[in-house]
Amino acid sequence: MERRYDFFTMRSKARRQVPAKIRASKGVGKNRFAAKLKKLSYNRRMSFPVTRMRRLRRTEPLRALVRETSLDPGDLIYPLFVCPGKAVRHPIVSMPGVFNLSVDEAVAEAEECAELGIGGLLFFGLPESKDEQGSGAWAEDGIVQQALRALRKSSAAQKLVLIADLCLCEYTSHGHCGLVVKDGDSYEIDNDPTLELLARAAVSQARAGADVIAPSDMMDGRVAAIRRALDAAQLAQTPILSYASKFASAFYGPFRDAADSAPQFGDRRSYQMDGANLREALREISLDLDEGADMILMKPAMPYLDVVRSARDRYGVPMGAYQVSGEYSMLQAAFEKGWLDRKRAMLESLVGIRRAGADFIVTYFAKQAAKLLG
Ligand code: PBG
Repeated sequence: MERRYDFFTMRSKARRQVPAKIRASKGVGKNRFAAKLKKLSYNRRMSFPVTRMRRLRRTEPLRALVRETSLDPGDLIYPLFVCPGKAVRHPIVSMPGVFNLSVDEAVAEAEECAELGIGGLLFFGLPESKDEQGSGAWAEDGIVQQALRALRKSSAAQKLVLIADLCLCEYTSHGHCGLVVKDGDSYEIDNDPTLELLARAAVSQARAGADVIAPSDMMDGRVAAIRRALDAAQLAQTPILSYASKFASAFYGPFRDAADSAPQFGDRRSYQMDGANLREALREISLDLDEGADMILMKPAMPYLDVVRSARDRYGVPMGAYQVSGEYSMLQAAFEKGWLDRKRAMLESLVGIRRAGADFIVTYFAKQAAKLLG
C-alpha cells in the first residue's frame, strides 16, 4: 500500500519524498522550491487518466471552441496576372484555375474577390513588349497601371487592398529582376542602378492607385530607395510590403509561365537567397525593416515555415507568407489525380502557414478557400 500510485500527484508515495530530500540537501529557498514542486505536480497531474486529450476533440463545436488558429477570407491575398487585350482569359497550363486576364476581366475578377471577402489582390503585369531596362514597369500606360486605374473606379477597390508587385523581371527582355551588365559570357546583375528604376516604378504604381507597393526583386537597398522616392512624390502614406526573405526556389517554376518571366540565361541565385539559410533570412528582414518596410512577406511558404515562425517570434510587424505557384500546382496536380482531398488539403496547407505565424497569405487558392470558409 505504501507504494500505491497516487493519481492526484501521479507518483508513488516513495518517490514523493525525493523533492523534500533535494530541498534539504541543496538548501533551496522555500518559495523557489514550492514553485518548482507546483510546476512538477501540475505537469504530473495533467497526465493520463485524469487528462484525456480526446475529450475536447469529441464534437465539432468543441473542436471549434478550442481551435488555436483562425483562417478567414480576409487573411487571403489573390494574385492577378494582367495582360493586354480585351475579354482575354488565357489559362496557365501549369497552374490549373489561374489565368492571364485582360484589364476588363481583372476588374470582374476583383469584384468577385470583393464579394468573397478576400483581403486583397497582388498585381503582376505581362507587358505588350519588353526591353533591357524593363521600362514597362514604370510606363504611364503600363499594364499594371492600367489595371489599377480601372479598379480604382470600381466598387471592389473599397473592399480590397490593391497591392502592386514591384519587380523588373516581367518587363525585361532578359527576364532578370535587375539591370544586366554583360561581359562576354559572364554577366552581373547591377544592383545600384536598378534601385532608381525600381523607385520610379513604385511611384508610378502608387500614382496609378496601388494601396501598397511590394518589391520582390531582392536588390540590396531597394526599400530605402523606394521609401525616399515615394516620400519625395508626396506619397508618404503609401506603405511598403517588402518581400524581405525570398529564396531562390524551384517552386517558382509555374509562375514564370504565368508571368512569362523566366530568366533567358543564368538563374536568380546571385540575388535571391540560398534555401539553406535561416540566419541570413532574419538579417534580410531586419535590414528591410531598418530601411522602412511597413510589412514583410516571406516566400515560398511551405518549405520555409521555420523562417515564418522565427520572424514572427522576433519582429512585431505585420507579416505575410506567399504560398507560391509550385506549392499550388503540386497540390492541384494531386487533386486532379484524386490523390488528395481538395478541400481538406488546401485548408490544411493554409492553416499551417497561419499557425507558423503569418498574418496573411498570398495564395492562388484564395477564391476557392474563401468559398469554403464563407
Ligand atoms: C518576381 C516574382 C516571382 C514570384 C513573385 N514575384 C518570380 C521569381 O522570383 O522568379 C514567384 C511567385 C510564385 O511562384 O507564385 N520577382
